[in-house]
Amino acid sequence: MATFPSFAKLNLHLQVVGRRADGYHELRTLFQTVDLADQLEIERTGRPGVDLAIAAGEAPTGDDNLARRAARAFLEQWGSRTDGVRVALHKRIPPGGGLGGGSANAATVLRAMATIWGVRPTHRELWELARGLGADVPFFLSGGYAAAFGRGDEIVPLPDAEPDWTAWLAIPSFGVATPDAFAALGGIPGTTPDEHFLRALRRGPEEVPWRRIGRNDLEAPVFRLRPELEGIYTSLVRARARVVRMSGSGSTIFALFDDDDTARRAGSLLPPGTAWLRVRSLGGAAWRRASGFAPIEGEE
Ligand code: C5P
Repeated sequence: MATFPSFAKLNLHLQVVGRRADGYHELRTLFQTVDLADQLEIERTGRPGVDLAIAAGEAPTGDDNLARRAARAFLEQWGSRTDGVRVALHKRIPPGGGLGGGSANAATVLRAMATIWGVRPTHRELWELARGLGADVPFFLSGGYAAAFGRGDEIVPLPDAEPDWTAWLAIPSFGVATPDAFAALGGIPGTTPDEHFLRALRRGPEEVPWRRIGRNDLEAPVFRLRPELEGIYTSLVRARARVVRMSGSGSTIFALFDDDDTARRAGSLLPPGTAWLRVRSLGGAAWRRASGFAPIEGEE
């Protein structure tokens, strides 16, 4: 059985610029994969259907598991009548953490199954399948550093940060459901793309890591839903973080520091039950090496 890594992301910037006719919100966001990863064991079987197991950690096992839905979608499009797949998830990325764990797993399943089945879908075919599974899934088909438009599914790859940089993640014991975060938004905070986003698009990554971090329009509504998160945010600011941000719709709050000692002291002040984890940014080239997938036809 082959094993594939499935990397988490941070949103370095997340702006909500409108409401769409399809019920989703129009976003301008910057994604960055980091070296926190789940491992997926994936094997082709002769039994029709998807056999999904959670080998370690926490994840739903039913239809709300995106790896299961991805495997089913792949089989419908490229499998034969007798084809089946076994997927075992070794989870490290917490669900509901704003780190894209489920979406990453779905994209990994699609790319791994294409490799195992020996089919060569075009980038367009994979993208269509991915976006049908969730707005974050297309980004995870290639990882690295990217800007996203639309529902967060229209991806523009950006040059990798050099060198890689460190972020610290405060992962609370509870998650936040993405629909709840968007529902709590109230109005649209502003319709003009932020200068931070435009600069990232023009020039790629900033020299100084904390300047890569913009704003997150979901912070205020999510902090209203879960005041504990604002407590974590404030505690990290007071502990001399250079920048503190929520990732996606939460619950993870991440921070950048001048040095690891300051970061460790900041972590020791967090509420009990909050995990404090050091991660490194993972650029597109490193992502491709670690994933081992052949390039997709039509990929930028
Ligand atoms: O696509 P996904 O299933 O990940 O989205 C979950 C929910 O998050 C959507 O049903 C919607 O309520 C909200 N969402 C949104 N606008 C986006 C992405 C997600 O309103 N761009």
